[in-house]
Amino acid sequence: MSLLRSLADRDRVFDFLVPATSPVDVRHGPILYLEDVTVSFDGFKAINRLNLTIDDGELRCIIGPNGAGKTTMMDIITGKTRPDSGQVWFGSRHDLLAMNEPEIASLGIGRKFQKPTVFEALSVFENLELAMAADKRILPTLTARMSGEIRDRIEEVLVTIGLAELRARPAGILSHGQKQWLEIGMLLMQRPRLLLVDEPVAGMTEQEMARTAELLTGLAGKQSVVVVEHDMGFVRSIARQVTVLHQGSVLAEGTMDQVASDPRVVEVYLGAEDEEPA
Ligand SMILES: Nc1ncnc2c1ncn2[C@@H]1O[C@H](COP(=O)(O)OP(=O)(O)O)[C@@H](O)[C@H]1O
Ligand SMILES: [Mg+2]
Repeated sequence: MSLLRSLADRDRVFDFLVPATSPVDVRHGPILYLEDVTVSFDGFKAINRLNLTIDDGELRCIIGPNGAGKTTMMDIITGKTRPDSGQVWFGSRHDLLAMNEPEIASLGIGRKFQKPTVFEALSVFENLELAMAADKRILPTLTARMSGEIRDRIEEVLVTIGLAELRARPAGILSHGQKQWLEIGMLLMQRPRLLLVDEPVAGMTEQEMARTAELLTGLAGKQSVVVVEHDMGFVRSIARQVTVLHQGSVLAEGTMDQVASDPRVVEVYLGAEDEEPA
């Protein structure tokens, strides 16, 4: 019963994993487009006239002090939070503000939350299989014979996330970093067009961080990846374009070197440190 229950929980967490319905059109521009987006919580503007453009296949890092609005931005893109004003488009065809969370997910926008939520009692392989079957209507097929196509996809993802040799082991024995990779793998099962990853390396060892950098840079190109991360060393190791959020808007954008030498960025980060008790 506990497995069934956890399947149900899992379904709630991963109910966005349904097959893409309509292709995203990027012929005329970016894969993700936010224009003049504002959202207030009790009068406080968590996102304030935010403009952001992500190109198809791009790996973008979003940095910014605590409370800058990074997670809220992901909530808006995924339909969890509705902005007060502005526009959010996925390709040129899909107005995300006219869609709900499952609909947005079904377009191929996958979101990795900070805390890994894998099934500890199931094997690595079974976790990937389950991600494929997260659609309730397909769940019964878990017990049926798996199609060769799904098996091939699982093998491919196992290699991508570096867990091929651990495929038969229960996910519970994985290290924290390996669980994070498995969860990224679960998202990849649906071949998302855009992956949103919130603070992937929190709590990882240096070695795991290096492997995560390889994983995320390897995904870019095949899909667009937006990474929110605090760890500057990690961002520097993967960054191409970096966007600095501050008070709900873009403070600076450019290469890591460009933004790191921007006096406004330096001030924001030093300011954040000043708030810590001495
Ligand atoms: N649901 C909410 N209700 C009220 N305030 C919120 C809510 N979500 C976020 N906030 C506030 O919005 C601001 C931005 O938060 P968040 O997006 O989590 O920042 P970040 O991820 O950059 O640290 C913070 O001041 C936070 O307290
Ligand atoms: Mg956050």
